[in-house]
Amino acid sequence: MDFPSPKPNIEKLHTYKPNFGKSKINNLIRLSANESALGASLDAIKALKIISNDLNRYPPQVSDELLSAISKRYSLNKKKIILGNGSDELISILAQTFLDYNDEAIHTEFGFLQFPQAISIAGAIGVVANDVNHTASVDNILSKISKKTKIIFLANPNNPTGTFISKNEVIRLLESIPKNILLVYDAAYSEFVVNNDYIDGSELAEKYENVIMLRTFSKLHGLASLRLGWGYASENIIENLMKVRGPFSVNAAAILAGVAALEDLEFQKKSVQHNLKWMSWLETELKSLNLDFQSSITNFLLIKFPSEHNFSAESAESFLASKGILVRGMKVYGLSNYLRVSIGTEEDNIKFINELKTFFKK
Ligand SMILES: Cc1ncc(COP(=O)(O)O)c(C=O)c1O
Repeated sequence: MDFPSPKPNIEKLHTYKPNFGKSKINNLIRLSANESALGASLDAIKALKIISNDLNRYPPQVSDELLSAISKRYSLNKKKIILGNGSDELISILAQTFLDYNDEAIHTEFGFLQFPQAISIAGAIGVVANDVNHTASVDNILSKISKKTKIIFLANPNNPTGTFISKNEVIRLLESIPKNILLVYDAAYSEFVVNNDYIDGSELAEKYENVIMLRTFSKLHGLASLRLGWGYASENIIENLMKVRGPFSVNAAAILAGVAALEDLEFQKKSVQHNLKWMSWLETELKSLNLDFQSSITNFLLIKFPSEHNFSAESAESFLASKGILVRGMKVYGLSNYLRVSIGTEEDNIKFINELKTFFKK
């Protein structure tokens, strides 16, 4: 071969392709990426205006101000927090840090796609634990454990299904696995959850040495464009991850906006209330259209479409795109009869349902 070739695992992979739309329509309604319906906190936006003085300076390697703000907001020990360029970066770093060639990492059947991607890039073997009713199954995960297993990746709640497993099930999983297996507990959507039966993972990371909880500023806090995520785990895990993470991976704008967003409790509350109100409205509307969907505790819904071509998920996705509404096709997840739709603003949600009604009347 007379050109540089990547590792075989990389050659087989596909580049992640979000649906941000190709349409020329202005003011696209974007319900395809589980973003915040209400934008970002005005305090966070204001915080960004003061950054222009220091653009020539590297950001702090670890912002003590942001660690303190996270620790205050969620009552956590700041020594156990790692900041990252989005939680996506932390997922990759976890795989690179803990997976060697031919190690195994378990992920769930309809789990977040960055998990198998990060496992392959690290050169390790991804092992799929089948879901039951589009929900992670602790028994199926346990049945896949072998001597080679190093990590279990679990998004709870999960994207793209919106489903979750209960606190007791998560504890049962942790109590059943060998202590040398790391549970990566991705709680990206935890701030939307109001269900008492749910655990966000921070107390697990206090109690167990083999858990890391991942969180993001991209969802509830509406700061997806700034790329800011964090993890919570034992100091030993954090120390090792910091050897792999780029020295300045979190930029100064993200730090400023992140601190301001954490302090804006009013915006957070308003976003959760908005999500609950419109999720329930959307469910009622979908039922009236006789559409099946997965009950979701997040800011998005996985909707099942009929298999007849005219009314299929693919036709609906194209029809909606032609009306300026972007939703997410689920073929890459092996769920080609489904579309994933994020909760938008009041206006976006109403337009989405009205166009969906038109689609089914065709
Ligand atoms: C389950 C899950 N984890 C992590 C992420 C990535 O978040 P970030 O924007 O912090 O990289 C997402 C984004 O969609 C997600 O759905």
